Amino acid sequence: MVSLEKHGPWAVVTGASAGLGEQFARQLAPLGFKLVLVARRAGRLEALAADLSRLHGAQCRVVALDLASEGADAALDEATSALEVGLLVNNAGSGYYGRFLRQDRTRFAAMVRLNCEAVALLAHRFAGRFAARGRGGMVIVASTAAFQGTPHMALYGATKGFDLLLGEALAQEMKGTGVDVVTLCPGATATEFQAAAGGTPHAGADAAAVVRDGLRALGRRPVVVPGVANKLQVVSERLLPRSLVVALGERVLRRFDPGGR
Ligand SMILES: NC(=O)c1ccc[n+]([C@@H]2O[C@H](COP(=O)([O-])OP(=O)(O)OC[C@H]3O[C@@H](n4cnc5c(N)ncnc54)[C@H](OP(=O)(O)O)[C@@H]3O)[C@@H](O)[C@H]2O)c1
Repeated sequence: MVSLEKHGPWAVVTGASAGLGEQFARQLAPLGFKLVLVARRAGRLEALAADLSRLHGAQCRVVALDLASEGADAALDEATSALEVGLLVNNAGSGYYGRFLRQDRTRFAAMVRLNCEAVALLAHRFAGRFAARGRGGMVIVASTAAFQGTPHMALYGATKGFDLLLGEALAQEMKGTGVDVVTLCPGATATEFQAAAGGTPHAGADAAAVVRDGLRALGRRPVVVPGVANKLQVVSERLLPRSLVVALGERVLRRFDPGGR
């Protein structure tokens, strides 16, 4: 369970301008966390900071940054170096719907940099800071897409598989250091993700509930899949032949790919 004593006083939340990241900030502020809000859209971050200050008296810093750009991890480390950061919510990420060969490969590098490289570099920088002070926590946001190949969003699923394997390993490595690591694997969630990824709009879980599950699992278990249906999906996938799981997944994901029919 997240705690101000163990994981505070400052929390860095990447991707705080929308969706799950905004929810993380909204749930951490009333617990007394001070917040570093990170994303590209500064206006959104400023508005959120003003809201959290008004509602909870939360102290916030805004860092407008493209995490897919070269040196972004160093810039965020530097921007927070004077703060006692105890929690990193490694959440910013983006998707891309479409059959692989129909996709624009000039978009691939930025997605891999954001979903994989930035997650790993920030994990290394901040977990190092936490280990040096003997306490801290990190949430890595992967996806249920991490558990099997995801036709019609093949590269995205691969990036989330990277996040899951990284987070799982770090949770084990950090045992005994005072640093908790949890990898949160949401299924479809109602955020701006689907629109940004070029997907057909479809229903998703409540972002607040997903975030609550993630914060509750910190320090308790290495991986959390929020929601009963998602848990059942992940468990049943372990029992079925992998080729069948991927083929069934394609039938679902094809419906969300506007060019997939
Ligand atoms: N929603 C779902 O169905 C779902 C399911 C499973 C996993 N996830 C994962 O959940 C995480 C959060 O996604 P979400 O659903 O909350 O999506 P979202 O509503 O689209 O929010 C994405 C956040 O990431 C930020 N971001 C995107 N590109 C960035 C960049 N280059 N540099 C810095 N920040 C960037 C966005 O801010 P700016 O645009 O202002 O930069 C925004 O704050 C992602 O890792 C995603 O893979 C989502």
